[in-house]
Amino acid sequence: MLIRKNKHSEPLESEVTDHQVYLNRRQFLNTSATIATATMLPMGLAVAGKEAEPTFTDLVKSDFAAGEEPSTFEAITTYNNFYEFGTSKSSPAVLATEFPDKSQPWKVTIDGECDKPGDYHYDDLIRPFTMEERIYRLRCVEGWSMVIPWVGFSLADLIKRAQPNSRAKYVEFTTLYDPEQMPGQHRKVLDWPYTEGLRMDEAMNPLTLLAVGIYGQELLGQNGAPIRLVVPWKYGFKSIKSIVRIRFVEQLPTSSWMKSGPREYGFYSNVNPEVDHPRWSQSRERRIGEFLKRKTLMFNGYEEQVAHMYSDMDLKKNF
Ligand code: MTE
Repeated sequence: MLIRKNKHSEPLESEVTDHQVYLNRRQFLNTSATIATATMLPMGLAVAGKEAEPTFTDLVKSDFAAGEEPSTFEAITTYNNFYEFGTSKSSPAVLATEFPDKSQPWKVTIDGECDKPGDYHYDDLIRPFTMEERIYRLRCVEGWSMVIPWVGFSLADLIKRAQPNSRAKYVEFTTLYDPEQMPGQHRKVLDWPYTEGLRMDEAMNPLTLLAVGIYGQELLGQNGAPIRLVVPWKYGFKSIKSIVRIRFVEQLPTSSWMKSGPREYGFYSNVNPEVDHPRWSQSRERRIGEFLKRKTLMFNGYEEQVAHMYSDMDLKKNF
């Protein structure tokens, strides 16, 4: 994501560093820093880029990015957007190593227009669901993309348990607000807490995932631990991290990015190579690990699964 800035503010790292150059530099820094930082890294990840023992086993596997090589663990866990931990791509991996604080059990509130609201501890929330590995493309609004082997379960399954009523037209998601743990929240770069929303049919679409892991391991802080949304046909910012509230609402929710730049970020934010961002084209993207850009696919390549939901809509107006 990019924030419009006044003349005096510093450019973001993503604006001045091509991500491939950036990753090469990270690789170099990681190799040289491995020994020094080994004791600070989570167990099993002492050598950056190598896969640790999987935490989740016996995963049901589904691949929605057929034929594509997943991005490296290194890329997925060091090149992040998570403004609660700073606006540069590198800061979440550095600032979120202790996140979330394990001494405070993670709680998710499910409320609003539903018959079975409740407050759940993370373990209780995920226990009833079958964990799947789903390999999805992620296309960021800034023009880079990755292929990520997520671990998670269908949001639809959780919604069915909450039993939304007939007034529930949308689902609103909220990230934790805790500046003690999330130092980026001391700066008013967004209207905290980060919020996002989906229309009910989008939330119920079988592709929509609540992710709890990557590469068979629990999510790291920088990727939105312990639980985040993944909506693979929409630009990356819809995939809200570190969720503490899921609320069923009647009116269209206004997300943090819609508030921050209503001309630039709409509610739908479907990946669409034909609808440019006001400040740049969306027709091409650079896959992390590749040199040349490739064409961006309509709905990020998930047209078959999702196009029917938008058949009667003008996607230029509903961007
Ligand atoms: N969720 C929160 N709470 N805060 C954020 O800044 N960034 C979004 C999204 N979810 C963001 C967020 C953006 S812009 C992208 S591209 C994806 O997370 C990036 O996810 P990743 O870092 O795991 O690749």
